[in-house]
Amino acid sequence: MPAPGETVDPSRVHSLDPDQLAAAVTAALASITTATDLDALAAVRTAHVQGDNAPLVLARRELGALPREDRADAGRRHNAARAQVQAAYDTRLAQLTAERDTRVLREERVDVTLPPARRRRGARHPLSSLSDRLVDVFVAMGYEVAEGPEVEHDWFNFEALNMAPDHPARSMHDTLYVEPAGSGRLLRTHTSPVQIRSLLARDLPVYVVAPGRTYRNDAIDATHSPVFGQLEGLAVDEGITMADLRGTLATFAEALFGTGLSTRLRPSYFPFTEPSAELDVQCFSCHGETARQPCRVCSDEGWIEILGCGMVDPNVLRAAGVDPTRYSGFAFGMGLERAAMIRYGVREIRDFVDGDVRFGLPFGIED
Ligand code: PHE
Repeated sequence: MPAPGETVDPSRVHSLDPDQLAAAVTAALASITTATDLDALAAVRTAHVQGDNAPLVLARRELGALPREDRADAGRRHNAARAQVQAAYDTRLAQLTAERDTRVLREERVDVTLPPARRRRGARHPLSSLSDRLVDVFVAMGYEVAEGPEVEHDWFNFEALNMAPDHPARSMHDTLYVEPAGSGRLLRTHTSPVQIRSLLARDLPVYVVAPGRTYRNDAIDATHSPVFGQLEGLAVDEGITMADLRGTLATFAEALFGTGLSTRLRPSYFPFTEPSAELDVQCFSCHGETARQPCRVCSDEGWIEILGCGMVDPNVLRAAGVDPTRYSGFAFGMGLERAAMIRYGVREIRDFVDGDVRFGLPFGIED
C-alpha cells in the first residue's frame, strides 16, 4: 500500500507482482531454451536478460516506486527471478559457445597429416657427377674448362685434326651429317675439335679440359651407344714433353681409381697425335694379380684401358696457328661411359641413356 502522499502507477507495480515476474521468467526461459545459436541468444539477452526494455530490467527500475514496506519483498522476488534467468542464460551461453567451438574446429580443421604435394628430388646423372669430379681434378692443376658445339664443322672435327677427307681413320668416326648435304656439318665424333677451337680462341699457353657429348654411327648394344660422353684434355706450352703427359695422367688415374695403382702408356695411333698412346691403369679390383684368381673387372688382363692420348701432332698445331718449333703439347680423350662402367661396375651402357632415375639414385644426390 502506498504511503500517504505517494502516487503509485498501478501498471508499474503490477510488473513486480509474483505472477508478472513468473510470467517474465517463463518467457525468458522459453526464449533462452529455443535460441539455437549465439546470435539468437544475443537477441534473447537484449529482449529478456539485460536490454533496456527487458521486462525484468524494467521491473527492477520500478522497485523504487513501490511503497517502502513492499520493497524488500519485491526486491527478493525480483532478485530470485533475475538469478534464475541469468543462470539459464549462462548455461545456454556456455552450451552454444561449446557447440560453436566444436563446429568451427570441425569445419576449419586443417589435416596436418596430409602428405604435402612434395616433388621427389631426382638424382644427378652419374655421368654428370663423374665428369664434374674429373674436371675438378684438372681445374685444381690449373686447367680451364672449354666447350664446343655438338653440331661441328668437318674442318674442326677432321681436317684440322690431321684427318684429310680420304683418311682411313674417318671410317671409325662415321656419324650423322646435317642437312643441307655438303654443308660440312656433322654431329661431332669426339671432343677433339675443342682442341682446335681452344687454340684458335685463347692465348698461349693453353691448358683446357672439355667434357661433352659426342656421336658415332654405332648400333646400340651393351657396350656401344651412338651417343656418349668424352672428356678431352689439351696442354700446349713451351717445352711440354711426354713426361708431363705421364705425370698428368697418373694424377688423373689416381683421382678416378684411388691411389697406389700403376699406369702405363701403350703405343697406339691417332692421326692428331704423334707419338700416340693408350693409357692403361692397373686393375683396381685385382691389382694385376690375375694369376691368383680370375678377375671380371679387367677380364684377367691385369690392366684397364682408360683413354687415348699423345703429343699434339705439329700439323694440328699449324692448323690452329701455333708455331710447332716453339710450342709443343699433349692431348688426351676419354670415354665417360666406359670409365663410369669400369669404375662403378655398370654392365649396360644403355642404363646411361635410358633416363630412369632409379639408375642414378644409388650414385648419390649431389648438388
Ligand atoms: N679423340 C680420340 C677418340 O675419340 C681420343 C684422343 C683424344 C686421342 C686426344 C688422342 C688425343 O678416340
